Amino acid sequence: MPSLPSTYLSPLMVKQMFDRDSCTYTYLLIDSETHEGAIIDAVKEQLARDLQCIEELGVELLYCIETHVHADHVTAAGSIRQKTGAQIAYSQSAAIKSIDLELNDGDELILGKHKIKALSTPGHTAGCMSFYVEGMVFSGDCLLIRGCGRSDFQQGDSTDLYRSITQKLFTLPDETLIYPGHDYNGKTCSTIAEEKRWNPRLGQGKSLDDFLQIMQNLNLALPKKINEAVPANTNCGINFRPDAYIHEDFSMQSLYEVWRQQEASDNILIVDNRTAKEYAAGHIPRSQNIPLGTEPQYLEALKSYEHLYLYCHSGRRSQTALTNLSILGLDNMTCVSHSGLPEWIQLGYPIE
Ligand SMILES: [Fe+2]
Repeated sequence: MPSLPSTYLSPLMVKQMFDRDSCTYTYLLIDSETHEGAIIDAVKEQLARDLQCIEELGVELLYCIETHVHADHVTAAGSIRQKTGAQIAYSQSAAIKSIDLELNDGDELILGKHKIKALSTPGHTAGCMSFYVEGMVFSGDCLLIRGCGRSDFQQGDSTDLYRSITQKLFTLPDETLIYPGHDYNGKTCSTIAEEKRWNPRLGQGKSLDDFLQIMQNLNLALPKKINEAVPANTNCGINFRPDAYIHEDFSMQSLYEVWRQQEASDNILIVDNRTAKEYAAGHIPRSQNIPLGTEPQYLEALKSYEHLYLYCHSGRRSQTALTNLSILGLDNMTCVSHSGLPEWIQLGYPIE
């Protein structure tokens, strides 16, 4: 894995990226010691940009975090999961199909030595969450810079929004940096103190009645992509996740039994979903390296096998590779989904 450039000395690096069409901010958070990362609110049209950034910085992406079900753009979360094995995290109350982590208020996602804390902040939508980490809050479409999200669709509720901002976000320390989900005027960052003072909708102690009055008179047009975005985003922006082939009890010991029988059979293939570099450093004999994300290149060759067995380092990538291959039409696959090569080595099984 390449090193981060030495200029990135901060232990938690934050990259703010922008989608011009929807004015969405996407954030990439990277622990600069472990290179573990999380991406917040990735946009489908910016998938190539984000994957390139993840690769160039040598990030092992653990989480695709969504602040809410977006109405103005389609998320890239499903595609990023396919390419990186990251887990998709959403508020439980967003009720999204095929996610990996359902978050409740106060839950924490561990990123190296950092903790990303989920704050339930409904109002723009019923399932909105903000995320707090070390003096920064990623506020999605709840609190914007000198504004706030609208509340007139997707179970939005202005009273809830008022409470989320005034009773939750405004109770964070004044110096907390606010990184919003959107900005339409080129502003990139604010602080809690600034918004308490200068936010025209909620600042200077505006009452709930004042706020409701403002929100009732916004008269906004519907987002132009709402009819496409909301249905797509309720499925992580992509149409899948058949979990039918993941056997919870398939262990490294089970894989060893398969491996012992494999010599006598041309119909079985053990697949290593780690990177070429990891594979070169040591792998299960007779396994084939198919790094996560490269499955389409190998599809025709893989079709000739009766059964595939997938493994990686921890089980995360092989589980995603299995999903990718099943979308491409393969079946008869099994993966080691909760373990990987370190256990194989620990058990004293052969390696080459
Ligand atoms: Fe939104």
